[in-house]
Amino acid sequence: MGAQAVKTSADDIVLELRGLTKVFGSGAAAVRAVDGIDLTVRRGELVIIMGPSGSGKTTLLTLIGGLLKPTSGTVHINGIDITAMKESALTQVRRHNVGFIFQSYNLLESLSAVENVEVVLDLAGRGGRGAAVKAEQILVDLGMGHRLHFKPRDLSGGEKQRVSVARAMINDPDLMLADEPTANLDSKHGPEIVLLLRAVAKELGRTAVIVSHDVRIQELADRILWFEDGRFKDNPEPAVAPAEEKTTGV
Ligand SMILES: Nc1ncnc2c1ncn2[C@@H]1O[C@H](COP(=O)(O)OP(=O)(O)OP(=O)(O)O)[C@@H](O)[C@H]1O
Ligand SMILES: [Mg+2]
Repeated sequence: MGAQAVKTSADDIVLELRGLTKVFGSGAAAVRAVDGIDLTVRRGELVIIMGPSGSGKTTLLTLIGGLLKPTSGTVHINGIDITAMKESALTQVRRHNVGFIFQSYNLLESLSAVENVEVVLDLAGRGGRGAAVKAEQILVDLGMGHRLHFKPRDLSGGEKQRVSVARAMINDPDLMLADEPTANLDSKHGPEIVLLLRAVAKELGRTAVIVSHDVRIQELADRILWFEDGRFKDNPEPAVAPAEEKTTGV
């Protein structure tokens, strides 16, 4: 990651949700897990969605990432309506434009740290010799240079989460989605991971949407959205962050 300037402008919208709704089940047993959400997130923003257990946060994040089809409403990523896409095209969008970070890391146990990152490039058709070098470099940038060839079982929770951040970033996605990324981490390593995502958002002009219960990371957000019963509380369409220019390097 070299030094670079990132200019954001008012129309630099990475994520746009309109009337996004997901109903599980039907009739009296129907659950409106996500209930008519509107949201606009711009390049460079770090948004944290907080809310009680069962409020629909994971459902919302999986809809945004195209892992789940909505009952109604739309998700636009970089201006493209992913809800209208066929599965094969959607898979391409996910591999190239979206990076996921899960609470449980979702690393492949038989692969080393660097192989876990490299495999994402292979899936996106960017494998080969350069892939290993790129995977190594990103892990070095994230302070994992001394653990490149360790298997997940030999890594600490914080180290595993760094590998999963590396994996989410390796394809240079515009949108990073994280579901409870700090839940298994202590009070030092939890905020560190979010600081890392914040640095990536600010310095490389990416966008991060994080779902969390964790009050320790609140202060790192540009915006906090409170989610309850499938809706944003008191805040249906939050104010848009002002356009700004940043010049730094990670
Ligand atoms: N596949 C499913 N089928 C039926 N109901 C579901 C399904 N997935 C989620 N739900 C329901 O939708 C609601 C929202 O679930 P979700 O997992 O999105 O909540 P959450 O806010 O992520 O909770 P937590 O903080 O505990 O992770 C819950 O009532 C849940 O039982
Ligand atoms: Mg959840």
